[in-house]
Amino acid sequence: MNYKQALQHPIFKIISQASKNLNLDSYVIGGFVRDFILNRGDAKDIDVVAIGSGIALAKEVAKLLPNQPKVQVFKTYGTAMLRYNDIEVEFVGARKESYNENSRNPIVENGTLEDDQNRRDFTINALALSLSETNFGDLLDPFNGIQDLDNKIIRTPLNPDITYSDDPLRMMRAIRFATQLDFKIEDKSLNAITKNNKRINIITKERIVVELNKILESQTPSKGFLLLEKTGLLQHFLPELTNLKGIDEVEGQTHKDNFYHTLEVVDNIAKNTDNLWLRWAALLHDIGKAPTKRFSKNVGWTFHGHEFEGSKMVYHLFKRLKMPLNDKMKFVQKLVFMSSRPIVLAQDIVTDSAVRRLVFDAGDYVDDLMTLCEADITTKNPKRFEKYHNNFKIVRDKIIEVEEKDHVRNFQPPVSGEEIMKTFNLKPSKEIGIIKEAIKEAILDGVIPNEHEAAYNLMLKKGEALGLTKS
Ligand code: CTP
Repeated sequence: MNYKQALQHPIFKIISQASKNLNLDSYVIGGFVRDFILNRGDAKDIDVVAIGSGIALAKEVAKLLPNQPKVQVFKTYGTAMLRYNDIEVEFVGARKESYNENSRNPIVENGTLEDDQNRRDFTINALALSLSETNFGDLLDPFNGIQDLDNKIIRTPLNPDITYSDDPLRMMRAIRFATQLDFKIEDKSLNAITKNNKRINIITKERIVVELNKILESQTPSKGFLLLEKTGLLQHFLPELTNLKGIDEVEGQTHKDNFYHTLEVVDNIAKNTDNLWLRWAALLHDIGKAPTKRFSKNVGWTFHGHEFEGSKMVYHLFKRLKMPLNDKMKFVQKLVFMSSRPIVLAQDIVTDSAVRRLVFDAGDYVDDLMTLCEADITTKNPKRFEKYHNNFKIVRDKIIEVEEKDHVRNFQPPVSGEEIMKTFNLKPSKEIGIIKEAIKEAILDGVIPNEHEAAYNLMLKKGEALGLTKS
C-alpha cells in the first residue's frame, strides 16, 4: 500500500514544512492512519505527534496556513489544536509516561516516537506515518499493527495489564473497537480486562457513556454488550442490565433470560433505526423486570408493572451516568413505559378505538414505539413470529387511517373549557372537567368524530344530564 495517498490533503505538506522550520520530526498517528487503511471514509480528526514540542509545532503550522487559524492550547496536557476548513488537527509532543495508580493523570516526560507508540492503547492505533521531508509517507509500525488490522485483532503494544491500568477506559475502548470493526480481542487482553475490571470505577461516567454510545451505534451492539458482561465491566456501570441475567425455575416453570432477550431486541432495532435514543430505549425496555419478578402458583412468573418501574429506573440510571436529563431521557422513559402496549394489541383483534388510544397516549412517539415493539418480537416459534408481525402491520395501517380521520395525536379538545363555561354560564368547576373527559372518551372510543359540531352536541347532552342549563 502506498501510504502517501493518505497524506494528499495540503495540510500535511504544511505540517511537514513547519516541522522542517523547527528542525523536528513529526508523524500522523492513531485513528486517522487506522481508518485510512481500513478504508473507513475520510477522517476529519488528525492526530500529529511531534518529537519535540507539539504546541510549538501547532503555532508554526498556523503561521503557514493561509487563514492563520487560532491555536487552542491545553497547557496541562501539553497539546494544541487547530481547525483548518473542515478538519481538526491535534498536536502532541512525543511522551514517555508513567501513570499515577489512582487516577489517570500521567507523569509526563519527553520521549521518542517509539516511547509514544508504546504508550498508546492498541497496535492498530499506534501506526504512524512520517511527515518529515526525507521520508514523507513512510509507515512506522513497530508492533505489527498492519498485521493485526489484516487479522482483525485488538492487541495492546505493551503487556495488557500495563496498558489497561495506565488508562482503564481502554478496556471499554477495546470492546468498542471490537464491536465497531468486528475485530477479536486477543485472549491475553481479554483476560487482563477481566482481571482489571474494577479499575473502570476511576473513570468518569461521561467517558464511559461515550464508549457505550459508540457500541450502541454499531451494527451489532450485542457483540459489545456480551463482551462487557463477560469481562465483568458491565456490572460496574449498568447493574440494571446484569440483573436481568439468568433463568429462574420454580416447580418446573421458567421465564426467559431477559438479558439475552434484551440484546436480541437491541440488534433487531439496530437494523431499523440509527436513532441512538431509540436504541437506548431498546436496551432499557425490560430493566423493570428484575425488581418486579414474582412467582405465583397459578400464573407462573410475572413482572407486573415492570414498565412503570423501568421508566422510573431510567431517570436514576441517566442521572448516575451523567447522561442528559432532558427530552431525550423523557423519550426513553416514555418508550419504556409504553413498551408493552402494542404487544397487547398484537395478540388480539385490533380495534380502531384501541389504536386511537395508543396514538393518543404515545403522541409523536407512536412510530418509534412501533419500531421498538417490532424489534421486541424474538419468539423462535415461526408461526407466532409471523402472526405478531402481521398484526403490527395492521396496527401501523390503522394508525395511519385513524390519524387521517381523527387527528388524536397531540390531541386538542374540540370544545374548550371556556366554551363550556360560556355555554352553561359556569365558573371554573368540576363539571367542566367531567364534560371534557366525556368528550375525549367518546372520541377515543369512536362514538363521535373529533369535530367541533359533534363534540358541541355531546357537551349539551352531558350538561343536561348534569342538571346544567344553557345560558
Ligand atoms: N489513545 C490512547 N488511549 C486512549 C485514547 C486514545 O492511546 N485512552 C490514542 C490512540 O492512539 C488513538 C489516539 O489516541 O488512536 C486518538 O484517540 P481518539 O481520537 O480518542 O480515538 P481514535 O483512535 O481517533 O478513534 P475514534 O475517532 O473512533 O474514537
